[in-house]
Amino acid sequence: MAWTNAKNKALQERARDVIPNGMYGHQSVSLLPDEYPQFFSRGRGCRLWDVDDNEYVDMMCGFGPNLLGYGFEPVEAAALAQQAKGDALTGPSEVMVELAETFVSMIDHAKWAMFCKNGTDATSIAVVVARAQTGRRKILYATGTYHGAAPWCTPRPAGILPEDRAHIVYYQYNDLDSLETAFRQCEGDVAAVIATPFVHEVFRDQVDPEQEFAVGARQLCDKHGALLILDEVRAGFRLARGSSWAKFDVQPDLSAWGKCFANGHPISAVLGSESARKGASAMFTTGSFWFAATPMAAAIETLRHIRESDYMEKMIDAGRRLRDGLQQQAASHGFTLKQTGPVQMPQILFEDDPDFRFGYHWCAETLQRGAYLHPYHNMFVSSAHTLADMNDVLAATDEAFAAVRKNRDAIQPNAALMRVLPARK
Ligand SMILES: Cc1ncc(COP(=O)(O)O)c(C=O)c1O
Repeated sequence: MAWTNAKNKALQERARDVIPNGMYGHQSVSLLPDEYPQFFSRGRGCRLWDVDDNEYVDMMCGFGPNLLGYGFEPVEAAALAQQAKGDALTGPSEVMVELAETFVSMIDHAKWAMFCKNGTDATSIAVVVARAQTGRRKILYATGTYHGAAPWCTPRPAGILPEDRAHIVYYQYNDLDSLETAFRQCEGDVAAVIATPFVHEVFRDQVDPEQEFAVGARQLCDKHGALLILDEVRAGFRLARGSSWAKFDVQPDLSAWGKCFANGHPISAVLGSESARKGASAMFTTGSFWFAATPMAAAIETLRHIRESDYMEKMIDAGRRLRDGLQQQAASHGFTLKQTGPVQMPQILFEDDPDFRFGYHWCAETLQRGAYLHPYHNMFVSSAHTLADMNDVLAATDEAFAAVRKNRDAIQPNAALMRVLPARK
């Protein structure tokens, strides 16, 4: 069946009347090539269907939540069994304690856990816990990092007051001198340093953390009596089965988790060590749905698979197949790709493509051949992506490279992107 998007376009038209901008946040397709569907009807494994029933190998995994495959049976069975008993009740169920115990047993620095819904809840709570613990104000924040959409961290300034950021002080990721300078500027007033496990921002190459930076950040926090917060919301359990900086022997005091640890069920978590327990006990936080038992049951089952299955090795094998295949294809069509970050969280940009016109065209052509890639956001591999699925992606990308090569001189940059790119880069 030929690729069409008539139903999606009609829904977008209706949405424009009743949803601000037709859609908001990172799930808006307003900056993507025009072909990209806004609305989807179903997902299974690593496959996704849009409302026009076009099928894709999905390389976005719901922007991260899909770790083991959409509709992964053991997790769904655990969720359904709990749902039949009760979900958002007058108080939490037994699974809350079991889930906290599971995290404490899996993550070295974790001695306690709190649960919420989204990554923004978790990073924001971690910041408040650090301030409650230390009685200090300043949060040292790596420039350009996405930690969520609350006033202290949202990337868009509309509606945000300078006061909301008055005690956010910026440093450069992987640059210990800049972190030291920030500590010096705020002598005696730093509550916490917050960092992601590696640099995974939109429109740019991903950057690995330097061991010296991770170790140095820990030492500076210890020296100045500040807490270290690791924001694992995006990368957690895709790099390691435990804390992402354990490979450097660096343990944070607090960590924020979300997206994938219940394989798509809505739950996030703040984990903390003894060094943050007092602050966590003193501050007030809650939410009507934060104690719902169904996502907790899904999380316990997902975490069991994280501990006991070869999900990580499967993601890495599939990601490696894609990276190697793309490298060869790009070369044979006369392009150079910048493939950065871990293979299981690939960022794929074209070399010499400052306005992203080639990347956009290539992704749009790939989309219409059955693979959903993203032209400026990092992608995610799940353990449901098989080598055969990656071969399907590669079949689509090969034809897409040929189309870009053929149209090379006529390809124009995306107009919507051009209106906002200078401010975003
Ligand atoms: C590193 C990081 N922190 C926090 C968040 C916010 O998570 P959520 O969108 O679930 O609020 C995200 C979301 O992409 C993220 O990537």
